[in-house]
Amino acid sequence: MYRTHTCGELRLEHQGTQVSLSGWIQTIRKFGSITFVDLRDRYGITQLLFGESFNDQLDAQPLGREFVIQAKGTVTERSNKNPNIPTGDIEITISEFTILNAAKTPPFTVQDDTDGGDELRMKYRYLDLRRNIVKQNLELRYRVNRSARNYLDSRGFMDIETPFLIKSTPEGARDFVVPSRMNPNEFYALPQSPQTFKQLLMVSGYDRYYQIVKCFRDEDLRADRQPEFTQIDCEMSFVDQEDILNTFENMMKHIFMEIKGISFEDAFPRMTWDDAMEFYGNDKPDIRFDMKLVNMNDTAKGANFKVFDDAELVVAICAKGCAEYTRKQLDELTEWVKRPQIGMSGLIYARYNADGTIKSSVDKFFDEEKLKGWAAKCQAEPGDLILVLAGKEERTRKAMSELRLEMGERLGLRDKNVFKPLWVIDFPLFEYAEEENRWVARHHPFTSPKPEHIEWMNDLSKYADIKANAYDIVLNGTEVGGGSIRIFQRDLQEKMFAALGMSPEEANHKFGFLLGAFEYGAPPHGGIAFGFDRLCSLLGGSETIRDFIAFPKNNSGRDVMLDAPSAIDQAQLNELKISLVK
Ligand code: AMO
Repeated sequence: MYRTHTCGELRLEHQGTQVSLSGWIQTIRKFGSITFVDLRDRYGITQLLFGESFNDQLDAQPLGREFVIQAKGTVTERSNKNPNIPTGDIEITISEFTILNAAKTPPFTVQDDTDGGDELRMKYRYLDLRRNIVKQNLELRYRVNRSARNYLDSRGFMDIETPFLIKSTPEGARDFVVPSRMNPNEFYALPQSPQTFKQLLMVSGYDRYYQIVKCFRDEDLRADRQPEFTQIDCEMSFVDQEDILNTFENMMKHIFMEIKGISFEDAFPRMTWDDAMEFYGNDKPDIRFDMKLVNMNDTAKGANFKVFDDAELVVAICAKGCAEYTRKQLDELTEWVKRPQIGMSGLIYARYNADGTIKSSVDKFFDEEKLKGWAAKCQAEPGDLILVLAGKEERTRKAMSELRLEMGERLGLRDKNVFKPLWVIDFPLFEYAEEENRWVARHHPFTSPKPEHIEWMNDLSKYADIKANAYDIVLNGTEVGGGSIRIFQRDLQEKMFAALGMSPEEANHKFGFLLGAFEYGAPPHGGIAFGFDRLCSLLGGSETIRDFIAFPKNNSGRDVMLDAPSAIDQAQLNELKISLVK
């Protein structure tokens, strides 16, 4: 028997028990003639005490970090207790040990405060995964997985697997493709999501489906994006938007209760997409703090200040209690908005001093009375700082949204232990893709327009105003899920494809299977998919989903441990009838 107990299990009450433990050596400390070893496994760390009698054996067979050993001995009370670990009251006085496998010196220390950099830890991910901190993330992931499954199971949802080798499902990103040996010159696509399959399952009558499933998207990577990621993907029949929001709000509440012990008494707030854009400058507002965007066009234009007069949008935020920002701090903020990522040419500010006076960086154009008008518009009070940006509408709104988040960060208003979920509803059905010079589906082409807007689909000038029965769930400024009520009639789906510039032939070629299915009794249906990695990372208090994925890719989409992607053999290429471009 390799072990009678795990390394996280033994306590004072086990004193005197003969035990056998197996695990990895975390540290070795020699004190005079005795040696202490911290032995680690998945469950914890236990201190082993090798007495004087082992010195010869240890000299002949020296132990090293990350060796795998088996040790037998007696549980003994420690004289020098460690209150920081659950096993800290005891140690094992060793009677016998075996080296099960020696280890090379690891390239970084396998401890919470490791000396290994990102790339090195990715390369030796199997060592990184031994670290407590990473293990806790994976444990959390597993608990969230169980919690979601239990909830969905209790509500009659059925887990049904859908294929990975499919035909492209457009979700706005590029597909990863897989060549087919048996069908030369033809390719499968890996699913960007199981969207069309889950809709077909509704047509088949499986009225509550879910799957915790891998999705693949060839898009530019960021901290919250991986090329392969996991969704909690769900679909329901005979439901309207309200049913879906309720069902999945309850799922979130269930998960929060089980994982964090947090109970949300009230319904999650809801905000229309229009309001999100106007008051927060983006469609995933972080509502942990207020600091709403204020449109200043009426108040700020017409004072002969060219920057404002020429701007499509003059927009402000009020930073509470920041009137005393120094010149240096304000210059630094100005540089911050001028960075290429933000792209503004400058920042205007007005300090509403505690004594009631108001001073701005554009005093030449705006006297105290006008500035009081600004303050009233922004609901600023003495002690507050008003920050103003002006320029092209879209860019300025986006920049102000970023500045708002930055100020929220600087003022400590984005506490990762505070959770503020929000439904964003009434998304536009279409958005204009400048590069492609055409309208594209904002969510995906299967999303249903609001019934009262369907007729506008015949009028291009109305496209921007058509709203969809589509919704996102946002948590602390991150989009953790999104879905919609679907189109379920063939003629409306055809109309949608046509609106997206698809000819009937193209629509039939790409989606004939779905259009066909809609002719054989398709029920009204809708659904949602949660970004599982994102949800886990937020619950775990991190913004990087990589930390919650056992074997993630780096920012260039590489698996540095496997060294993938990589070239393949000429023989494999020949079989696939693929020739490489030099
Ligand atoms: P959507 O494209 O909004 O919807 O995706 C759902 C959720 O998946 C997460 N997500 C990602 N997470 C990590 N890395 C990525 N590259 C990535 N891309 C998306 C986000 C997002 O909210 N089929 C529809 C759902 C539906 O309509 O039911 C879909 O996939 O958290």
